[in-house]
Amino acid sequence: MKANRPAIHLTAPRNWINDPNGFIWFDGCYHMYYQHFPYAPVWGRMHWGHATSKDLVHWEHHPIALFPTKSYDRDGCFSGSAIQQGEGLVFYYTGVDYVQANPENINRVLYDTYVACQVRIASPDGFAFDNFEGKQQVIAPIQNQALGSRYHTRDPKVWQQDGRYYMMLGSKVQEPDQEKTTPKVLLYTSEDGIDWQFLNAFSSYDTLGEMWECPDLYEVNGQWILTLSPMHMIDEPHVHKHQAISALVQFDARTGEIGWDGKQFTYVDYGLDYYAPQSTVDREGRRIQVGWLRMNHPLPGCEWVGALTLPRHITVREGKLYTDVHPQVRAQFTQMAEEGISQMGEPYRICAELKEGEEIAIGSYRLGFKDGRIWADRTGLIEEQNAQLFSQTPELSQKTDQLEIYVDHCIVEIYVNGGEAVLSHVVQPNALCGKLQLPGGASCFTWGEKQA
Ligand code: FRU
Repeated sequence: MKANRPAIHLTAPRNWINDPNGFIWFDGCYHMYYQHFPYAPVWGRMHWGHATSKDLVHWEHHPIALFPTKSYDRDGCFSGSAIQQGEGLVFYYTGVDYVQANPENINRVLYDTYVACQVRIASPDGFAFDNFEGKQQVIAPIQNQALGSRYHTRDPKVWQQDGRYYMMLGSKVQEPDQEKTTPKVLLYTSEDGIDWQFLNAFSSYDTLGEMWECPDLYEVNGQWILTLSPMHMIDEPHVHKHQAISALVQFDARTGEIGWDGKQFTYVDYGLDYYAPQSTVDREGRRIQVGWLRMNHPLPGCEWVGALTLPRHITVREGKLYTDVHPQVRAQFTQMAEEGISQMGEPYRICAELKEGEEIAIGSYRLGFKDGRIWADRTGLIEEQNAQLFSQTPELSQKTDQLEIYVDHCIVEIYVNGGEAVLSHVVQPNALCGKLQLPGGASCFTWGEKQA
């Protein structure tokens, strides 16, 4: 492992990363693009970074894929997705043009006004992009403010179904007499992926945030799932206010109607650092999902900030959503470890069964099972201003919890009962270096199949 970064979590080569974008299996490898500000470890005028992997664990970095060139994306290539079309790939993203850049930092906007349009760009292989001649604005900035926001309509997720293309966008509207804005998703459809018609909109329930970012709609085991990243979902102080949630919904592709009461949902990750997930279909046809683990500042001695999570496998069983670690990640951690594992500096996997009242310590990081919930406490282990220090899952279905924990430099991901809940945290790397305290019967596995 390179000493100053995680080994199995994707980080930018240097500087800022946020949302995963354009995640797709294509022509023998997984392509992962991501929101990237290449010049400093802070958010700024967005580019798309690019990495590929054959096994979802080892990532290889490539040159920046997308960068601003047009008046409509001069201030950033925001989040978007990829689909295969013919022999190549087609990407959709949001181009933004700031109404007024901050004169003190032109990479950021003043007054939250990003004129937003949707852009298409094709690539023959996922590596070559013609940022100068290849971009095409396919949906202009919205004029009708009753439909959606001119400044906040973004993150196209595109898929193909029954011979047509569908695009879902996150948006919001300001209803008369309402104090806060109403979050919305907008659905468009197209025969060729170039000429798009508005199909339908869905909004719901006035407590689920003020704007829905990074919407994703997909079918698993015959059940539609809507994943959203609602902004301003939690009001309490000292937490990330924006969170990612998933809901089981009905979807009629013919009318674009979504059926959901807006009340039944689960958090995608209960650690509350997690945001802006995107799903895709893996080589074997499974629905998989990756999200962004937020960090506001680089850790001491690190040139990068933020990371993507391990890929997770989504299933629905008996009407319940499960988010488990991807089997290809698990398959890398098969060598039973000797004692002293926490000193090794390599990533490892812990398998343990916890009974009510039992705890685990990974150095100074503690987690346990209490009142039917898994909790994790990183008090004193992270200097993030808005970090949630204590997190817990909702009440779980079992009296004894099976845990699968991945420890990687500064990241801990805890999978409970085969994906009934997930909880991930970022902590200072040295916090995880101390002694491991595990319940009887637990085992640790090291990273076995290193790639040449
Ligand atoms: C979510 C998000 C997206 C946007 C991107 C900009 O984290 O705000 O809505 O496209 O990040 O970097």
